[in-house]
Amino acid sequence: MKPIVFITQKLPDQAVAELKEQYEVRMWPEENTPAPREKLLEEAKEAHALWTMLSDRVDSEVFEAAPNLKIVSNLAVGYNNIDLEAAHKHGVTVTNTPEVLTESTADLTFALLLATARRVIEAEKTVRSGKWQSWTPMGMTGQNVGGATLGIIGMGRIGEAVARRAKGFGMDILYHNRTRRNLEDVRYAEFEELLKISDYVVILTPLTPETKGMIGAKELAMMKESACLINVARGGIVDEMALYEALKEERIWGAGLDVFEQEPVPIDHPLLTLPNVTVLPHIGSATVQTRLEMMALNAEAIKACFENKSVKNRVC
Ligand code: DGY
Repeated sequence: MKPIVFITQKLPDQAVAELKEQYEVRMWPEENTPAPREKLLEEAKEAHALWTMLSDRVDSEVFEAAPNLKIVSNLAVGYNNIDLEAAHKHGVTVTNTPEVLTESTADLTFALLLATARRVIEAEKTVRSGKWQSWTPMGMTGQNVGGATLGIIGMGRIGEAVARRAKGFGMDILYHNRTRRNLEDVRYAEFEELLKISDYVVILTPLTPETKGMIGAKELAMMKESACLINVARGGIVDEMALYEALKEERIWGAGLDVFEQEPVPIDHPLLTLPNVTVLPHIGSATVQTRLEMMALNAEAIKACFENKSVKNRVC
């Protein structure tokens, strides 16, 4: 009997072709929707590998339902959707997809920072809706990016790639990280100092019990009135209602959000009523090339696991 791989979303043929030659590959067939929870639990009963997405909750219920499971390979660098303790208890390997998404995620981070600072999306909507009546001296004015101070929370590979881009914009770059890094042209700052002096606070840290809610009312109150908060990491790091209040009362100037506590963000979410928020649907790594490279890492990990070879990008 061939080992069974269950993939929770429809992937391009080229990403699964090699696995299909050797294993029984079962893939959720619908475009643009993930496999429902019940389907994941049902397939877990037989699967030897689960190829999951950041939108799948892979918790102890899944591991308990899956007696044959050897590996969970997650199409993301983040793996907060997977209960690693449960994986460890059940002897299941977990892998992620680091490195290949560094540059594209840094590009998107910078694009979101620029779009927020210069009100790009709001301005575009003004043109399309016919509300552009005249060039006006203070119309659609944003905030300077060149020469401004950037504070990066979470200085891993993506943080470094964002810092490289910021250098080209002549920005002053600070970072806060659990461990200090030896980096050129980038200065370590204590968390509170970074919040107080940055014009752009960019969140790039993983979501963990320690970082959950790390940006709340108190932290937002420390930021400059002219500052922007940019979150491309995970929604749960920011207290969204505290952010809503801070933006509504113009205690900070703007926010750019690629991630939300609940995704897709509900259409009636208070944050979506504010003009000073730029929102995106979690597209940090979304380029054709990057996503195919991420998928190649998942397929490689599953294959290596089935062949009892050393598995790259293990997080458990
Ligand atoms: C990840 O891979 O964790 C990113 O959030 C994807 O954009």
